[in-house]
Order: sequence, then structure tokens, then C-alpha cells
Amino acid sequence: MKPLVRERKIAAKSFVNRSLLSYVNPHGSVAEQFRTIRNNIQYASKGRKIRSLLVTSPNEGEGKSTATVNLAVCTAQRGDRVLMIDANFRNPILHQIFGVQTSPGLSNVLGQQLDVREAIYNTEVESLDILPSGQRFFNTTELLDSQIMADVMEYAVSHYDMVLLDCPPVLGTPDTNALVNKCDGVILLLKSGKTQEGQAKEAKRSLLFAKANILGVILNKKSV
Ligand SMILES: Nc1ncnc2c1ncn2[C@@H]1O[C@H](COP(=O)(O)OP(=O)(O)OP(=O)(O)O)[C@@H](O)[C@H]1O
Ligand SMILES: [Mg+2]
Repeated sequence: MKPLVRERKIAAKSFVNRSLLSYVNPHGSVAEQFRTIRNNIQYASKGRKIRSLLVTSPNEGEGKSTATVNLAVCTAQRGDRVLMIDANFRNPILHQIFGVQTSPGLSNVLGQQLDVREAIYNTEVESLDILPSGQRFFNTTELLDSQIMADVMEYAVSHYDMVLLDCPPVLGTPDTNALVNKCDGVILLLKSGKTQEGQAKEAKRSLLFAKANILGVILNKKSV
């Protein structure tokens, strides 16, 4: 059954955007690589269907959002119904990529100001919906660690084939670790030439401590 979402078909601000390369050029090498990653995620899950996935990295700016959006596009292009949730209250970006307001969004839902269905937007990408971050709250970790967040995830996985969470970095904020046990799988992204080995190991340790099911690593490399 199609989820009940606000009827707001929105256009991405500019599809000439690196974050949406898989949409702009579905036959290009970037889209091809993300389709490979999409398939590898299912292979890595050893037969268990992955319905919710969180993408994170040790530090800021390593390419988490770019990878999550492209992965979401490739998954939607396969015909799956996909929901992307912007769980990065510190540096939210999904609203910018898809040209919507930040609010209402996840923080408003967690603050019990509205129902989750009222904060989800359709996008121009067929089968891809987004839940933007909403206004920034001070007690973000507590909100993400709450029963209401667990309820949001339950709603999401029961109405979509795949739920993808765009998260803050692991190091320096506890927000991501509050979410990993609410997802079937976690992808750790590392940026070639930027992420240091010690940071990668520390991020992995931290995720495992929070009971993350780490499915694999994406090595992101700045394109030439
Ligand atoms: N493979 C790549 N090649 C070139 N540029 C890239 C690549 N991946 C990401 N970028 C660029 O790097 C910048 C940061 O990317 P992005 O916003 O995805 O990082 P992030 O890890 O989500 O950041 P934050 O921690 O702030 O959420 C953006 O300008 C993005 O376009
Ligand atoms: Mg980001």
C-alpha cells in the first residue's frame, strides 16, 4: 500500500548536482558503482533482507550525504519504495538537495508537533520520498534515542522497501550511535586520502560498541 504522504511533488533545486549524479546520468560510471554497492549490501547481509540502512563516517565532509542520496536513487530506480531520513541535525542537507524547507521534519515529529506522515515529501525521483531534519534541537541525542524515533523507524520500514538514514559523523557526537541499533545495517564511509587509519578504527570500535551491524565500507574518492 502506498504510504500516506503530503501531496507535494517537489523538484530538486538543480539536478546538475553531484549528489544526484545517479539520477542525472543513470548510465554513467557513478550510477554503475552505486548499483554495485546497492547489490553488495544485500550480499553482505547473508540472506537477511536489509530494510533500513545508516550511512556514516568518522569525520565531517567525507561524503556521507552524497553517497546516501546516490544509493537511495539507485535503489528507487530498481522499483523499490525508498525513504531517506535526514538525521543530521548538525548539518542537514537533504532539504537543500531536493529544494524543500528544513521544517517540518524529523525534529518536529520527535517533538510530537505532528505526525510523521505530515513531514514526508515526495520527490521528483520516482519512488523516492524524504523526511527532512526539521529545526535543530539542543537535546538531539535524547530525541534520536527515544521511543518516538523507534516508532518513526517502525512506520518507515512498514511503508517502504528501504529506509536510508543520512547521519552525522561518528566521532565527536553521540547522535549516530543512538541510531545504529534501530537499523538493520550500517555502512562506514571512509574518504581516501583524508580519513586517517586511527579515526577509521576508532569509528568502527564506537559503532560496534553501540551494537551496529556493520555491513561494509565505502571508500570515497574525490573524482578528477
Ligand atoms: N566522490 C566525490 N567526488 C567529488 N566530490 C565529492 C565526492 N563525495 C562528496 N563530494 C563533495 O564533498 C562535499 C561534502 O560531501 P557531503 O556533504 O556528502 O559530506 P558529508 O560527509 O555528508 O558531510 P557532513 O559530515 O557535513 O554531513 C560536497 O561538496 C560533495 O559534493
Ligand atoms: Mg552530510
